[in-house]
Amino acid sequence: MKSQEKIVVQGGRSLSGELTIGGSKNDALAILVATILVPGVTILHNAPANSDVLNLLEIFQEIGVRSRFLSASTLEIDASQLSGSETPHHHVRQMRASFNLLGALLSRFGHAEVAMPGGCNIGARPVNFHIRGLEQLGAKLRLEHGVYYGQVGRFLGANINLEFPSAGATQHLMIAACCAMGRTVIENCAAEPEVVNLANFLNACGARIHGAGTTTVTIDGVVGLHPTEFSILPDRMQVGTYAIASAITGGDVFVRGALYDHCRPLFSKLLDAGVQLEEDAAGVRVRRSASNICATDFMTMPHPGFPTDMQPIMGTLLALSDGVSVITETIYENRFRYTMELAKMGADIRVSGRNAIITGVKRLSGAPVVCPDLRGGAALVIAGLAADGETQISDLHHIDRGYEGMVDNLRGLGAIIGRSAVVVG
Ligand code: EPU
Repeated sequence: MKSQEKIVVQGGRSLSGELTIGGSKNDALAILVATILVPGVTILHNAPANSDVLNLLEIFQEIGVRSRFLSASTLEIDASQLSGSETPHHHVRQMRASFNLLGALLSRFGHAEVAMPGGCNIGARPVNFHIRGLEQLGAKLRLEHGVYYGQVGRFLGANINLEFPSAGATQHLMIAACCAMGRTVIENCAAEPEVVNLANFLNACGARIHGAGTTTVTIDGVVGLHPTEFSILPDRMQVGTYAIASAITGGDVFVRGALYDHCRPLFSKLLDAGVQLEEDAAGVRVRRSASNICATDFMTMPHPGFPTDMQPIMGTLLALSDGVSVITETIYENRFRYTMELAKMGADIRVSGRNAIITGVKRLSGAPVVCPDLRGGAALVIAGLAADGETQISDLHHIDRGYEGMVDNLRGLGAIIGRSAVVVG
């Protein structure tokens, strides 16, 4: 017998009111890795305490980097006593962003040991762009039994062309190159807001990075970085998730802290679907009154295209639309697994390779479902809010990686939702 937690939702309530968005998981993880380069105390505001961040802080502890939350969202990192370059494999394998420790530790120590990363099971997710870029910067790397061992004297500036605008590789190489000797130019870079904010953080620490947010980033190496105080971005994926929670329930929710510009690719599709959005300086109001959800097609793309992380949640909204929508997923080959769970709730979705053809249905009905991954799990909670009757969602460890306090947030908007331990087996 073992106990497993579930989220239990009684669907059918329109959400209303206001919630405040916390710090971005992906921004926090990238910036936390970069703090390794700073031999001093960094203060991060708006830091989330989701399980991925906590896991990274455990890795930090093992290598002598001290961390503590000074308040619910102010995090102090002290990398002045960094003492090891061998990261604990078990923790590294639980997430993706930990792989960027390889470049950070090589820059600080000249040697590093980092296991191949884990993260959501949404596709192959190789690390070849990271490895090729680090090697172009002068690192000697070897892979043995699933672990990368690296050595470098000092990184040397290089011209790097990424095969694909990978967010992680762009961030990793920016971190590695900022204390390199000479100039590094990275072409075909990712332009995600989290890439720009990482460059802003590094520049606040004394780095000289230009062009972040465009396809070419130039990094003039500096001798070292100094401590700073900095803010993590509001989480644009949480903004999108709660915006769609409002839309799917015919609700009226003010999403405080939402940065409209960061969410424009998603918001433009929400407008196509008939959702009303009003931007103001403090956030975005998201409403859907009597209107139907309109079917609409979309394709996931690197930023500023439609974000792959929002695909499962937008797909869930379209499952209740008034027509047929076609989604094309171009980033991750396994990101339609949530559709099998949605089918248990009555959704009509046919997946064929990289496409999902969604024929809108009039209603979903609550059912026991299992989170396939982080965003797929969030999508199932959103589906439960709109479904008739009770939905039970299990395998919550996926959701906990990126949605701190999701149940409380939704309850605050009027959802009938709870989290309970259920004895199984
Ligand atoms: N890719 C390669 N080789 C590489 C690196 C990437 O082929 O060396 C491929 C990937 O397999 C994928 C594409 O390039 O097909 C883009 O991957 P990218 O490197 O941009 O993704 P990532 O940096 O590993 C981050 C987020 C993901 C988000 C993607 C895309 C973090 C920790 N993760 O991953 O977030 O989906 O960018 O925007 O920042 C999530 O939060 O749910 C999540 C999965």
